[in-house]
Parts: sequence; C-alpha cells; structure tokens
Amino acid sequence: MNPVVVGISGASGSMMALATVEELLRRETPTVLVCSNAGRLVWQEELDVSFTETLAIWQEHPKFTFYPINDLRAPIASGTYPTSGMVMVPASMNSIASVANGLSSNLLLRAADVCLKENRRLVLVPRESPLHSIHLENMLKLARMGVVVLPPEPAFYLKPQTVEDVVRFVVGRIMVALNLDQALPDDLQYQESAC
Ligand SMILES: Cc1cc2nc3c(=O)[nH]c(=O)nc-3n(C[C@H](O)[C@H](O)[C@H](O)COP(=O)(O)O)c2cc1C
Repeated sequence: MNPVVVGISGASGSMMALATVEELLRRETPTVLVCSNAGRLVWQEELDVSFTETLAIWQEHPKFTFYPINDLRAPIASGTYPTSGMVMVPASMNSIASVANGLSSNLLLRAADVCLKENRRLVLVPRESPLHSIHLENMLKLARMGVVVLPPEPAFYLKPQTVEDVVRFVVGRIMVALNLDQALPDDLQYQESAC
C-alpha cells in the first residue's frame, strides 16, 4: 500500500493528530508525518507528552517516516512519489488559506498541493470558531475541488462521555474519508433508539 501522509498544522486539537497516527500505525499503514512549527507549539500547549518523545516512539515503527517541515526535498514534495492521499489534522485556517490559494512554502503545504494536482484524496480537519467569510470561502473552494472538509464535530447522539470518545469518532471519520474503511465501526454508527 502507498503511504498515507499526515500533516499536523497549528490549530487546536493535537490529540486528534496523535490518535490518527496511532490508528494508522496500529493498522500497519505506511504513514508519513510532517508537522508545522505552529503544530509543534500547539502540541506542547495541549498534550502532556512532548512531540519529540512521541516522534521517537513512532520512529521505531517500521511503517513510519517523518520529514522536517522545511525539507522540500522529501519524496512527498513530488507528485512522482505515490501516496494514498493526505489528511491535515488539525488544519489551521492559515494552512487552509495557503492550500486554497496554491501556496506551498513548506513541506506540509507542498504535500497538500501535490494531492490537489495529482487528484489524490485530501482530507482537512479544520478547527476554528467562529468562522469568517474568508475561512468559509477557502474551504468552499477546496470542497469544490473534491477535498473532504471534515470538521471535528462530536456526534452528540452517540452520547460521548469523554474527549477521547469524540477523538475516536473523528479518527473513525478520517479513516472512512481516506477510503481506508468502508464505514465507521458499529458502535460509532447512529442506531435508532429503542423507545
Ligand atoms: C494554543 C494555540 C491554539 C491555536 N488554535 C488555532 C485554531 O484552532 N485554529 C487556527 O486556525 N489557528 C490556531 N492557532 C493559530 C495558528 O497556530 C497560527 O495561525 C499559525 O500561524 C498556523 O501556522 P501553520 O498553518 O503553519 O501551522 C493557534 C495557536 C496557538 C498557539
């Protein structure tokens, strides 16, 4: 299988990035990670485990590869390197604006731009609230190009009890959006209540 690219940008929700990479590696999916400088900064604010420590653990997995944000010579910067698509999780409004306008000044943006030009799956997990019209227009532009815009919204009807429940739901959605799963696991699907 071709690798899945995971791009972490500097929006809130580092926990979703961590859980996404963990899920891909649990499935033995070849995974290529790139993280913006702001992504590292937010990770440091939000998680108790450091990015460097987590990276060191992931790097022991044979299916895991990491490239620094400014490494524009990394294979994922070229359309000739085959991938199964990319998820940007979380996706900052800054990075979304760049992708929507064809700007690729770092490896994360370039990898997303490659997905667009090669017609590969690109999934964005935007995190911002409230959204102004420029945010919305950027996402609309990308959605019209076939990008999956997947806000990390809880499914309240599943009655999530913890943040981990919400994150698991979002990661399940990402797996479906990346075409790695056909459907969410049964316990994350809406069931008509017996009443
Ligand atoms: C703690 C923290 C939380 C942030 N949360 C968000 C967010 O949810 N959404 C967003 O668009 N930007 C957020 N930002 C701002 C971005 O990090 C900032 O715009 C940055 O330039 C994004 O860079 P990047 O797109 O290269 O990752 C946050 C910044 C910090 C420090």
